Amino acid sequence: MNQRLTEAPSWHALQAHYDKIKDIQLRQLFADDPNRGDRLAAEAAGLYLDYSKNRITDETIRLLVQLAKERGVADRRNAMFRGEKINITEDRAVLHVALRAPRGTQIKVDGVDVVPEVHAVLDKMAAFSGRVRSGEWKGHTGKRIKNVINVGIGGSYLGPEMAYDALRTFTDRAMKFRFVANVDGAAFAEATHDLDPAETLFILSSKTFTTLETMTNAATARRWVVNALKSDAAVAKHFVAVSTNAQGVSKFGIDTANMFEFWDWVGGRYSMDSAIGLSTMIAIGPKGFEDLLAGFHDMDEHFRTAPLEKNLPILMGLLTVWYNNFFGAQTIGIMPYADNLKRFPAYLQQLQMESNGKHVSLDCQQVNYQTGPIIWGEPGTDGQHSFYQLIHQGTKLIPCDLIGFCKPLSEFTDHQDLLMANLFAQAEALAFGKTAEELKAAGSPDSQTPFRVCEGNRPTNTILAEQLTPRVVGALVALYEHSVFTQGAIWAIDSFDQWGVELGKVLATRIIPELQSSAEPKLKHDSSTNTLIGRYRSLRG
Ligand code: F6P
Repeated sequence: MNQRLTEAPSWHALQAHYDKIKDIQLRQLFADDPNRGDRLAAEAAGLYLDYSKNRITDETIRLLVQLAKERGVADRRNAMFRGEKINITEDRAVLHVALRAPRGTQIKVDGVDVVPEVHAVLDKMAAFSGRVRSGEWKGHTGKRIKNVINVGIGGSYLGPEMAYDALRTFTDRAMKFRFVANVDGAAFAEATHDLDPAETLFILSSKTFTTLETMTNAATARRWVVNALKSDAAVAKHFVAVSTNAQGVSKFGIDTANMFEFWDWVGGRYSMDSAIGLSTMIAIGPKGFEDLLAGFHDMDEHFRTAPLEKNLPILMGLLTVWYNNFFGAQTIGIMPYADNLKRFPAYLQQLQMESNGKHVSLDCQQVNYQTGPIIWGEPGTDGQHSFYQLIHQGTKLIPCDLIGFCKPLSEFTDHQDLLMANLFAQAEALAFGKTAEELKAAGSPDSQTPFRVCEGNRPTNTILAEQLTPRVVGALVALYEHSVFTQGAIWAIDSFDQWGVELGKVLATRIIPELQSSAEPKLKHDSSTNTLIGRYRSLRG
């Protein structure tokens, strides 16, 4: 591992291989091998991955797998599963896989088996969720809880919101679920404007219980409830917390009996299946949550045991490295052909970009290669009518993951074939395009043909599952978690810290009093920041 990535023999071999095949055409690859579509596919945990529409040959996969071996991806994976402190900059184990380990499994951190603790919290969550769902847990005035608002940001928000949207059809429709993240007061106002405080439960989700946005929204929520119900005692019935910081929680006034714990070995962006998923469990019920965890665990087991060349997360991670480091692709598009997955790209943005947006390697050297790509995306078919044009005919290479399902969840089943026809058509059009000859044969006027040519050769992965169920959502999230892990292991970076977000937080803390003070503050920033603050103060009035 001490050897720099760019000095690894397999890296050199990949570079030479890239130089040889960089212009290879998907049309040609498919023409040469009629079984390519069957062959370059792998399946696990209910997910089928077709990676045949990538600019790769068998040799590419052989070399990428060789790279994974040389870079010790499997050893690092095994170290993670053993509970070793692979998050070196924070000296922490990385054990989100323990959150979905079945009862009776043993995973130790500092000599202590954490699996019983995980299940104790899951049992507590299940008991609480059951009481809220059945109406046994009542608000301060005796009314039934009808609304649940998760207050949290980043990893304490994106997972719960994404999962709620994804699994809407499995949720208790008699209840409303909302998510407040932004410190913009509009977020809180919008989430609460039509709700009765007497029927509303807040889940304060924060690993640290210090995050400015969450603490501000939590304080506002407290005022909203106490003012309406005219008693501080209402807090006990309308607030629960999910955190690692018991002290902070009780200081806020929440009895720690109503706190759901998690641990420093769960990273925020890897926490949707911990107690941070409490809103998910209330929405879909303890059994649904169990299925979600089972899906995560299915993929964990596959990642842990499958040979590298058949291992879905390893393959996806290696393909990301292939485009990112050899083709110089800057971004990856995530296009779920499922409206309920509309927040999935945003969820993956934090997972990928906070994990792998790093410029220093584990051995403290400035990297001399590209690390994490930019992640973005929108559900199909919506994106087709806005930005797909650039993917088809623009000048940038944008590998995309297209995610689709065979069985619909809505009662409007006739839509599903139209939706999926679009997914298949886009993958086909991106790969094979339309040549000038084909256009001419179809009657395109000569003057227009150049504008209409689609070069094709745009790579995609297609991920297909039977239906968007809790179990499949678990497997899908774990697939990307472990793909991110694989990329980080190849790049030899710490995918589990996030020092880069700290600087902005510190500077904001310095600026807050400068905005709030009634006396004109003495500003000591750069001239741009000083002018902007001055202008804000005078326009705000
Ligand atoms: O600012 C980034 C971050 O630290 C994320 O990593 C984390 O998910 C989020 O803030 C929220 O943190 P917390 O759960 O401690 O409020």
